[in-house]
Amino acid sequence: MLYLIGLGLRNEKSLSLHALDVLKSSERIFLEGYTSKQVDFNLDSLKGLIGKNIEIVGRDFVENTENILSLAKDEDVALLIAGDPMVATTHIELVLDAYNSNVKVEIINNASVINAVANTGLEIYKFGKITSIPFTTESFMPETPYNIIADNLSIQAHTLCLLDLRLEESRFMSFKEALNYLLSLEKKIKKEVISEDSLVVVCAGLGSEKERIIFGKVKDVLQQDLDVFPQCLIIPSKLHFIEEEALKRFSLKNTDKTSD
Ligand SMILES: C[S@@+](CC[C@H](N)C(=O)[O-])C[C@H]1O[C@@H](n2cnc3c(N)ncnc32)[C@H](O)[C@@H]1O
Repeated sequence: MLYLIGLGLRNEKSLSLHALDVLKSSERIFLEGYTSKQVDFNLDSLKGLIGKNIEIVGRDFVENTENILSLAKDEDVALLIAGDPMVATTHIELVLDAYNSNVKVEIINNASVINAVANTGLEIYKFGKITSIPFTTESFMPETPYNIIADNLSIQAHTLCLLDLRLEESRFMSFKEALNYLLSLEKKIKKEVISEDSLVVVCAGLGSEKERIIFGKVKDVLQQDLDVFPQCLIIPSKLHFIEEEALKRFSLKNTDKTSD
């Protein structure tokens, strides 16, 4: 049996009791170490809680699915994934390959950044397509995030922007890099999607004790420093008055608190 287990967002104590039972009876336990990270992740505490060794694996191991599936044919194998195990673009391939190889799979869901953005007070049903902002180079500066925000704004939907990370280098994109990239795309594409006066919501360490949410104009938010990771960014569309009231809790003092 192959178990895909969500770790949740905070730390090892975010594991469900069912997940803990499964882990205690699994023969091999792997931790997928490239799509996301819990805010207060501590490998030794996790090992202590489960009382077993945990092997950290990278993209090659998870995406060349025959390795893990050949193990799961004969024994119980668990793959731990930060957040929810299915909120990552590649894990469905593992599930499909397991299905085609007659390996049974159980998915154990957990909290994800996708539902924790509701902590801002923004209505979860009013989010549109999610986008990712990647680390750029001179030869790789995709316009997709900008275009997705434009499309979402055209249907009055909020946009969640996930920010790139390279866990093997302990490198996380900050909301400032993401905002500056979107401003640079605005200068180039000029569809009036974002400006220094646009209202944005910055989220860091959602679902953890260190959670920080900031609501304000781009120019004011860019003056702030946040050293909690992972971070994400929300470009809100037209706000309902309850959303406005909820966001006021996180607004910067000198910010105009209305949106249009
Ligand atoms: C592939 S996504 C999410 C994967 C994860 N399986 C989940 O369900 O949350 C990873 C991105 O989500 C965002 N993210 C993840 N956890 C976060 C948190 N606790 N607070 C803010 N943003 C977070 C970051 O932008 C990060 O780069």
